[in-house]
Amino acid sequence: MFLALEKMEKWCFLLVLLVLMFGPWVNGGMAMAYRSQDGTEEWGYVEVRPKAHMFWWLYRSPYRVESPSKPWPIILWLQGGPGASGVGIGNFQEIGPLGTDLKPRNSTWLRKADLLFVDNPVGTGYSFVEDTKLLVKTDVEAAVDLTTLLKEIFNRNESLQQSPLYIVAESYGGKFAVTLGLAALEAIEAGNLKLKLGGVALGDSWISPEDFVFSWGPLLKDVSRIDNQGLQKSNSLAGKIRQQLIDGQYVDATSSWSELEGVISRSSNSVDFYNFLLDSNMDPISLTSVELREQIAKRRYLRYLDSLRLSPGGDVDIDTLMNGIIKDKLKIIPKNVSWGGQSDLVFTTLSGDFMKPRIKEVDELLAKGVNVTIYNGQLDLICATMGTEAWVEKLNWDGLKEFLSMKRTPLYCGGEGGTKGFTKSYKNLHFYWILKAGHFVPVDQPCIALNMVGGITHSPVASIS
Ligand SMILES: *[C@@H]1O[C@H](CO)[C@@H](O)[C@H](O)[C@H]1NC(C)=O
Ligand SMILES: *[C@@H]1O[C@H](CO)[C@@H](O)[C@H](O)[C@H]1NC(C)=O
Ligand SMILES: *[C@@H]1O[C@H](CO)[C@@H](O)[C@H](O)[C@H]1NC(C)=O
Ligand SMILES: *[C@@H]1O[C@H](CO)[C@@H](O)[C@H](O)[C@H]1NC(C)=O
Repeated sequence: MFLALEKMEKWCFLLVLLVLMFGPWVNGGMAMAYRSQDGTEEWGYVEVRPKAHMFWWLYRSPYRVESPSKPWPIILWLQGGPGASGVGIGNFQEIGPLGTDLKPRNSTWLRKADLLFVDNPVGTGYSFVEDTKLLVKTDVEAAVDLTTLLKEIFNRNESLQQSPLYIVAESYGGKFAVTLGLAALEAIEAGNLKLKLGGVALGDSWISPEDFVFSWGPLLKDVSRIDNQGLQKSNSLAGKIRQQLIDGQYVDATSSWSELEGVISRSSNSVDFYNFLLDSNMDPISLTSVELREQIAKRRYLRYLDSLRLSPGGDVDIDTLMNGIIKDKLKIIPKNVSWGGQSDLVFTTLSGDFMKPRIKEVDELLAKGVNVTIYNGQLDLICATMGTEAWVEKLNWDGLKEFLSMKRTPLYCGGEGGTKGFTKSYKNLHFYWILKAGHFVPVDQPCIALNMVGGITHSPVASIS
């Protein structure tokens, strides 16, 4: 802990406060940003609607190279939940420059691109609303706020505009990514947003909840984790969810989803939803109250990566880190805003949209010629590859038949030998199958994840052979 403190001091010496006034803005609002003296980091709040504040943190890569044919890319990372913080989890537990122990992460995606973390939607992480009525109820509302944020960050900076933006999402973030992709394109076409959209990448993404809930039983039965009785119970609840979705009972479908998670947990003696080879570190859910069940389902996501910490006891948990040393470093987080303080409400407010599919939005992006990459960890249960392949087959995209019939290319990494994954591409659809990875692909397979993201973003930094 002491060492970590010293490191932070060195790291954030002399912060310069930049109160930046922006040009014409619908609400006449003001955005505030801080920049580290060496200019490699910048963060701030954008008031995306009156009294709704969104926090962002931009890292400029020390590995940047200039290439005439390949512009240096920038990645917008969108975390799942909904209500999980990209600024905290994605940054410190997955792909940012430092781990939760504040030691450098060798596999940081900064090796390939600049990184923009956002606490999305408002109410997540350090983002906050002054009135809970301002929380978003739909993925589309979240996309509108994110577009406002991108305008604030990109429109004022010509140098940033040279970097193509790749929206890379994980889990529920995939639903935000496709709605944002479409909203951003619309704003770009209307001349309101000055940026170049490079592509959208959907990592273990909750694009079609129905296809995922139908994959859970058969997958777990095949790998001996549940028996026939468990399979029957699971499939019957999945059928109920399908009917609720047909009938437009979306909130009820969300309740049935958490009920199904409970059934799966009990039938499997607590399989881990983020890696079906593991046991969950939480007790089987035998709760009857819907709210409590839902709370536990959400918490599970937030706790999972904490449970993977490399040196238990040696570093702090993510809540302590984000509400302590990092909050102090950032200077601009209001005293009464605690990291994650409103995230349960974010989830609850979206419960009418949680189970809605976004396959149509993927189709629209493909039809507009946007590069769409899908990647999936082999061992993920919650967004299992089986479910992902099922929704891909539902696309109306005219390249689908060719895509499905193509052969895959094996992937290797780091000179260790052994197949690390497979990939294939047809026109603007790309798919990566990542072996020995669960839901959190960059955490489980950092080498191949880094190569993959270099490929997705056409980074001028060569891949590791
Ligand atoms: C760090 O990553 C680089 C390439 O990305 C690799 O060559 C090197 O071996 C890694 N070092 C460690 C300690 O893992
Ligand atoms: C924090 O306090 C201010 C007033 O001091 C209030 O306007 C704001 O809504 C509070 N924020 C939160 C998230 O409670
Ligand atoms: C714009 O971005 C560049 C780097 O991408 C940075 O050096 C510069 O300071 C930024 N300008 C403003 C006004 O933020
Ligand atoms: C999409 O990706 C392909 C290669 O994967 C690349 O050649 C093409 O330029 C990309 N298109 C856009 C619009 O970025």
